Amino acid sequence: MQETPIQQGPIGIFDSGVGGLSVFKEVRKLLPFESILYFADSGNCPYGSKTQEEVLFLARKNIEFLLAKNCKLIVIACNTITAVAIDHFRSEYRIPFIGMEPALKPAALQTRTKKIGVLATENTFNGRLFKQTFEKHAGGLDVFIQPGYGLVELVEQGEQNSEKARQLLERYLIPMVEKGADTLVLGCTHYPFLKDMIRQVAGNRLAVIDPSDAVAAQTKRILMENDLISDSCRRPRLHFFTTGEKTMAERFFALAVEGPFQIEQIGP
Ligand code: DGL
Repeated sequence: MQETPIQQGPIGIFDSGVGGLSVFKEVRKLLPFESILYFADSGNCPYGSKTQEEVLFLARKNIEFLLAKNCKLIVIACNTITAVAIDHFRSEYRIPFIGMEPALKPAALQTRTKKIGVLATENTFNGRLFKQTFEKHAGGLDVFIQPGYGLVELVEQGEQNSEKARQLLERYLIPMVEKGADTLVLGCTHYPFLKDMIRQVAGNRLAVIDPSDAVAAQTKRILMENDLISDSCRRPRLHFFTTGEKTMAERFFALAVEGPFQIEQIGP
């Protein structure tokens, strides 16, 4: 078991790939004085269709990497890993973990037609967390569940605005719009990168719910509760690691950060 977390340690954020940068951006906005290490396991992406054992094994490896760098809190910026593994990690490690919860509650509050769509990976839909959240918040709603096959791969390749992305989104979203859905929950952290294409495909017929800012707010709350917020005088470090191709990762990281950052490629 690792040491007790300390205020000066960085926040660790990880995902199966670059998707979690959508969460990173919000955390950075809300906590500008914190050092952050972001780990993208792009060399092993996607996790969405892997077995639970594989997801657990890979996620644990990512966590050990971040803990070796003294992270004081870890944000699992991946719905799939949260769904499969967060309970294990909370009981196994001493530091706090923040995970992704499918944003059915805000969707339920916002929908007028009482019909919502959810786009996520197969593993997320199969997890206990989704079922629990569904039972708690989606009673009385029609919920159209749609696995986003192929979308994570497109984002990882930087193809989020491609014709292929349009075709997949048309296939996934138009049927739910035709059935009356007016709200779409993004249940995978890669999907906020598809927001422009979603808008092109669905226009203003679907209000898109992205939980990244709520996750950042929860991160801040938990840091405060545990007395782990950094003092505001230091110069925060931003350090990125990827197990994938460095040039592609650099393009994504540069979009997510203003100013200097370090990036390292490590073996998958
Ligand atoms: N960003 C991950 C998620 O939220 C993508 C999962 C995958 O790698 O398939 O679910």
